[in-house]
Amino acid sequence: MHKRIYEGLSTAVALLDTNFTVLSINPAGEMLFAISANRLIGKEFMHLFQDNMPIMATLEEALARKNSITLRELKILLPGREAITVDMTVCPLTSPEGDTNLLIELVRVDRYLQLSREDDILDRHAATQAMLKGLAHEIKNPLGGLSGAAQLLEKQLPDRSLKEYTYIIVQEADRLRDLVDRMFASSKPLNKDLVNIHKILNHVRKITLAENHNGQLDIKQDYDPSLPELIGDNDQLIQAVLNIVKNAVESLKGTGRIILRTRIERQFTIGSRRHRLVLKAEIEDNGPGIPDELKEQVFYPMVTGRSEGTGLGLSLAQSIINSHDGLIEFKSRPGKTIFTILLPIIKSVS
Ligand SMILES: Nc1ncnc2c1ncn2[C@@H]1O[C@H](COP(=O)(O)OP(=O)(O)OP(=O)(O)O)[C@@H](O)[C@H]1O
Ligand SMILES: [Mg+2]
Repeated sequence: MHKRIYEGLSTAVALLDTNFTVLSINPAGEMLFAISANRLIGKEFMHLFQDNMPIMATLEEALARKNSITLRELKILLPGREAITVDMTVCPLTSPEGDTNLLIELVRVDRYLQLSREDDILDRHAATQAMLKGLAHEIKNPLGGLSGAAQLLEKQLPDRSLKEYTYIIVQEADRLRDLVDRMFASSKPLNKDLVNIHKILNHVRKITLAENHNGQLDIKQDYDPSLPELIGDNDQLIQAVLNIVKNAVESLKGTGRIILRTRIERQFTIGSRRHRLVLKAEIEDNGPGIPDELKEQVFYPMVTGRSEGTGLGLSLAQSIINSHDGLIEFKSRPGKTIFTILLPIIKSVS
């Protein structure tokens, strides 16, 4: 019975002796480390990790204190594979005969951490949008009065050369109004229809290549052809993708490689909602990456790393995708930045 429970657990569990030699490991553990129990039993547990110092210290401490210890959000590097994040609990077990073993339990928390980060992005985005909406209203009302008054004043001016000044007032008021309008372009109601994400990506690709025909820009396509169409606002989705692709081109300064990738995820959770089918569209570039000091804030309006940027592109894109019940997230390091658009695939217009 105990063996069946041990083998049926979905978390990785291993039993070690006091020399940290593996006595047994359950199937979830074999999966996690991608190694069979036969090859592991009798070997040192530490061989499974590249950086094993914190793990070693925890095992020793648990043994010395005869107490169970949990290391939270431990990043481990499995040999030859990418880093994963786990919660690791070490529990010393002493048999009636006085032998001590160590029970190790490893729970992967990557996806859980990702979900709380996603919730965070959605919450923060909603909060800034709400605040800005109030602010925009307050700005737009007086702007109308300002430019109207300047136009009236212009008519009364005796000296034509003074018109230059009223012209500046009207121009700048217009510019400010456009800026505020752009900030809220995404609050437009969605014009929903069946949309094909590949058509959207191809359209953006064509525009981008046409605008950058002088540079050495390569935009590759890596599509999952089995993706179904989804319901959404074609023009707004083009805008969202375009804003992300534009940033990639700007970071590449016109020379480099962009990959447009699509995949499908089943039973996938976005924020706190689970969806049967989710479209994953990625825009990857091999540019210098997002500067560390901007990483936490790129989705905020007015956050920019470019002298001529307005910092609205990503905020707008996020609003558009949020209004489709989706989310944009990113990973970035020098040489590899990936923006991922997650969109639930809904098949009927509601
Ligand atoms: N692919 C990328 N590579 C490197 N940095 C990026 C990338 N995408 C975004 N960024 C950084 O994030 C900042 C914010 O992007 P966002 O699109 O919101 O504003 P912007 O491009 O500066 O201005 P706008 O899009 O309004 O013209 C950028 O200025 C840039 O510093
Ligand atoms: Mg931009």
